[in-house]
Amino acid sequence: MTGLNDPAFFDRYASDYDELNWIDPAGAVDVLAELTPKGGRVLELAVGTGRVALPLTARGVRVEGIDGSSAMVDLLRAKPGGEQIPVTIGDMADVAVEGPFHLSYLVYNTLYNLPSQERQLDCFRNVAAVLAPGGLFVVEAYVFDPKQFDRHQRVATRRLTDDAVKMEFLVHDPVEQAVTFQRVTFTEGGTRLNPLRLRYVWPSELDLMARLAGLRLRHRWAGWDRSPFTRDSESHVSVYEKE
Ligand SMILES: C[S@@+](CC[C@H](N)C(=O)[O-])C[C@H]1O[C@@H](n2cnc3c(N)ncnc32)[C@H](O)[C@@H]1O
Repeated sequence: MTGLNDPAFFDRYASDYDELNWIDPAGAVDVLAELTPKGGRVLELAVGTGRVALPLTARGVRVEGIDGSSAMVDLLRAKPGGEQIPVTIGDMADVAVEGPFHLSYLVYNTLYNLPSQERQLDCFRNVAAVLAPGGLFVVEAYVFDPKQFDRHQRVATRRLTDDAVKMEFLVHDPVEQAVTFQRVTFTEGGTRLNPLRLRYVWPSELDLMARLAGLRLRHRWAGWDRSPFTRDSESHVSVYEKE
């Protein structure tokens, strides 16, 4: 499969992205607003349809965004307040915007949409380059769980109703640290395929990328409620500071 990590790949998901992916942003917005100095400039990588950026802007934070998908950004711009958020269309690994920013964030596992360790490291380096001294980079991501796979594969039923079944088919490549998905919806009318490829990163690897970029881990929580991160945590919110 090709193209699954293209910056514009989410064009194919834009039309029903909010309907299928809505997760309450309140916890993220509280933490990000608190971490932003008064009047500070904030950059969201992969801003998408503005799930987090819009309520953060409504709290008085000056948010700007980058996204590879113009279809996702069109949806952001069509929402109340969406036109106020300056958005650059481009690859988030390049961070082609003028700093300095006081905070940048990349949430909802989206760092994993970058295809390789190299591009993820580029992303860290380029974010660090546009952060002011003492500026923060906040990353939210899941912790890969190899126990969910048997012989590098996994098949699961996500939803089953009278007239549809949603299943997912996953293949794990432990060398590339990549999981390729097909989320498939079967109905009497036909089949819909939703492919995705995620290159996951271990928390310790993330910290090393940050160090290479001149950033230091300041906090790691299990979620936006700032609960402690433990060996059983399924995801994390990590806060890095520019040295
Ligand atoms: C899962 S959505 C997250 C959107 C938003 N941050 C949120 O939390 O709802 C992923 C977003 O990442 C964008 N994206 C994926 N790869 C990208 C890349 N290489 N450069 C820029 N944007 C990218 C997609 O276009 C999409 O809008």
